Amino acid sequence: MIHLIIVSVLVIISTVLLGLFLTNAPILPVQASVQAETVDWLFGIHWWFIAFFFSLITVFILYSVIVFRRRKGERGDGQYITGHHNLEIVWTVIPIAIVLWLAVVGGSTLADVERRDPQAITIDVYASQWVWRFEYTVTVPGQDGAPEVTTAVSSETLYLPKDRQAVLRLHSTDVIHSFFVPEFRLKQDVLPGGEEFTRELRVTPKMAGTFMVRCAEICGRLHYDMQADVTVVAEEEFNAWLAEQSGDCNLTDPECGQRWAATYGCTACHSINGDAGVGPTWLGIFGSQEDLVDGSSVTVDEAYLHESIVDPNAKIVAGFQPGIMPQTFGEQLTEEQIQQIIAFIMSLQ
Ligand code: CUA
Repeated sequence: MIHLIIVSVLVIISTVLLGLFLTNAPILPVQASVQAETVDWLFGIHWWFIAFFFSLITVFILYSVIVFRRRKGERGDGQYITGHHNLEIVWTVIPIAIVLWLAVVGGSTLADVERRDPQAITIDVYASQWVWRFEYTVTVPGQDGAPEVTTAVSSETLYLPKDRQAVLRLHSTDVIHSFFVPEFRLKQDVLPGGEEFTRELRVTPKMAGTFMVRCAEICGRLHYDMQADVTVVAEEEFNAWLAEQSGDCNLTDPECGQRWAATYGCTACHSINGDAGVGPTWLGIFGSQEDLVDGSSVTVDEAYLHESIVDPNAKIVAGFQPGIMPQTFGEQLTEEQIQQIIAFIMSLQ
């Protein structure tokens, strides 16, 4: 009995010390969303369970090893114990109760994190090997009684207004990716396959600043580099940014093309400095003569570039693989954007 009391006291002391250490150690990044509070609260409970069970096991082992060790001159066997019904009932019932309670707490936490705010803004997130693209829908009231105009704004940075819920609709254009912002404590797989496989994530940023989206699902050669900035700004600043973006690209054609090439991920596979990539480099490609996989050759002119953007498998340059470049750019890009990207490629000499 005296041993049990000593061990119990030691377990309590060890649990408190370890629990305080784990819950205070700087293990997690800053808490930048409302959802992170709920997640961290649940995480905190788990730290205390970890501290308790770790202490329970190690204190019992260490105590037994030290106090009940075989002393000099001892020859006999230890006491033979066959079983203890009450103890077995206790160590079955208590863990079941804990697990059931955690299931209830987990369910209510999930409901809390997924709660929908009717004021939320919706942002479409497109994951492709190996870029993120964020698409906002802006509705501008029509002038002089004309119907309102809806335009899409594409961005390579995820801009979010502070203190307002954003519903992120996650789409993949190729393989499975995973959207992960550690500071928001949210992670969700991004699946290809169209509308049916679109997943949603709700986030309410509560801190202005710049964070990073990482891809948390291995998705190919540049998976490690599949990152994008997340910029959380005050609501007015966000609205100003969106208004500015929804205007036409009022740069020169090659400059606009450069913007689209970055936003739509072209330059993840086509280098602009001559380096080898998944696709041919764009540097100096315009006007060159390229051999194709079928043995013929082609002069890279505007018509060939246009065809290669909307129907990439039509004429594959020798040494490269068909079926890698998405075949959806003909729908994703406007004709003007395609012409601007071509102008950008032509400028790379
Ligand atoms: Cu996308 Cu890893």
